[in-house]
Formats: sequence, structure tokens, C-alpha cells
Amino acid sequence: MSDDALLRVTDLHKRFGDEEVLKGVSFEMAPQDVQVLIGPSGSGKSTLLRCVNRLTDYEQGEIVLDGTPTSEMDENDLRRQVGMVFQDFNLFAHRTAKGNVTLGLRQVLGLSKEEADSRAMAQLEQVGLADQADSYPAELSGGQQQRVGIARALAMDPKLLLFDEPTSALDPELIGEVLGVMRDLADEGMTMLCVTHEMGFARQAATDIMFLDGGTIVEHGPPDKLFEDPERERTGQFLERLTSLHGDDG
Ligand SMILES: Nc1ncnc2c1ncn2[C@@H]1O[C@H](COP(=O)(O)OP(=O)(O)OP(=O)(O)O)[C@@H](O)[C@H]1O
Ligand SMILES: [Mg+2]
Repeated sequence: MSDDALLRVTDLHKRFGDEEVLKGVSFEMAPQDVQVLIGPSGSGKSTLLRCVNRLTDYEQGEIVLDGTPTSEMDENDLRRQVGMVFQDFNLFAHRTAKGNVTLGLRQVLGLSKEEADSRAMAQLEQVGLADQADSYPAELSGGQQQRVGIARALAMDPKLLLFDEPTSALDPELIGEVLGVMRDLADEGMTMLCVTHEMGFARQAATDIMFLDGGTIVEHGPPDKLFEDPERERTGQFLERLTSLHGDDG
């Protein structure tokens, strides 16, 4: 364990009723790490992300963000420092792209309208959507909506961004534009914990890939190691299958 970890998850346990979904998950991320989390459906990937920003509680374990246990942090403060990008975008339909980005800036950060507008425009520009600032979600493609979702998360100037299958709801031809934004963020040094099955992205952008299976991280390492020489046969098989399904768009 190093002291400079941005995120440290230690022995995390989470159950739903009789089912223990997370059975002692531990890992850490250094600043600027891009951690890709993979695992079978139902293995607890979303649950793990939701524990990190406390959208869900857990029975046991500790999560430390930049030196502070998240259990001691104010929920608003934690969600400001840990942004989340959802599979289904989660945009407000009755607000424009800009309105979606300014909402948290006004309500959580308490910025003035002028400050919020100006920061929102800068973030929309960063994801290539400055010209769509006044469009409503229904007027945007899925890829554009997801880029608004990313701009909204970025606008809060988070220390860590969580992505939960950000491209799974998109038509194949729209996946690339979202992965492109994610790659740019990775290049700029954003610390990112990403549940994604896009193996092209994982190979190119990930510092590490973690394989969650049966409630624990069964394998964890740099992409080259996991793809070329996994410790476990099952990891290799799983990666091979993902690559054949999602390998080319990254
Ligand atoms: N709110 C909930 N109440 C009860 N059970 C839940 C709840 N959320 C998740 N679960 C269960 O916990 C397990 C893990 O779910 P989770 O959504 O974290 O998996 P996942 O790895 O993200 O799966 P997928 O790849 O399908 O998104 C599943 O068995 C799921 O049914
Ligand atoms: Mg999930």
C-alpha cells in the first residue's frame, strides 16, 4: 500500500439479502491511473462503483479517497469529487445540454449563472459539443448525449471519474466518439475507473485491468500482461470473448 494512492478500496463486502455480491474487494489507484473493471454480468461491477461514490452502502471495508475515508465525507462533497458517467446518460430531458451541465455547478457549487454558463460552455467545448449547447437531449444522438454526461461530470472538477458501461447503450457507429473523449481525458491525466467491455480502449488507454469474478478481484494487471499472459485460464478466455465481441472500435 502506498500513501499517494488517490483511491484505496480495502476488503469491501457488500450483500443484497442473502447474496454476498462483493466478498472482500481490495485495490488501489494512483493519480492519473485508468483502471478498467471487467467481469461477467451480475459480478458486482456496478455495485462496486456505487460503493465508491456511496450511491449504495456496504457492510464492511474501507474506501479512502485522496487520504480521507469516504465514510467521513459529506455526501455532496464526495459526489463532487467523484464524478459518474452512466450507461443510460441520466440527463434531464427538460434541460438543454448546457442546462444539464450547469445544474450541479449552480446547486452544488453555488456558482453564479454567469460563472456556471461559462464553465459549462468550456466543458461542452472539450467534448466537442459547444455548438449543441442549446439542444435538448431528445435532439441529440446517443453519443452526443453521453458526451454531455461526461461534460457534466467534468464540470465539477472531480478527482476521480467513474464510468459504468458508458458505451453499452449506443449504436456501434456512435461508440467511437465517446471512447475518443475518454481517451483524451486519459491522455490529459484524468483518473478514471471504467467498467467497459471495449477492449480496444482497454488495451490502449488502461494502466490496469481488473477482473471481478465470484465477488473478488481474481486477476489484476497491465493490459499487455492480461491479454498476452494471464495467470488464470478463465481470465484469458473472458478477454478473448470480449475482444471478439467488442475489440475493434477502441
Ligand atoms: N438494488 C439491488 N437490490 C438487490 N440486488 C441487487 C441490487 N443491485 C444489484 N443487485 C444484485 O447484485 C448482483 C451484482 O449486480 P451488479 O449490477 O453490480 O452487477 P454487474 O457486474 O454490474 O452486472 P452487469 O454486467 O449486468 O451490469 C446481481 O446479482 C444483482 O442482481
Ligand atoms: Mg452493471
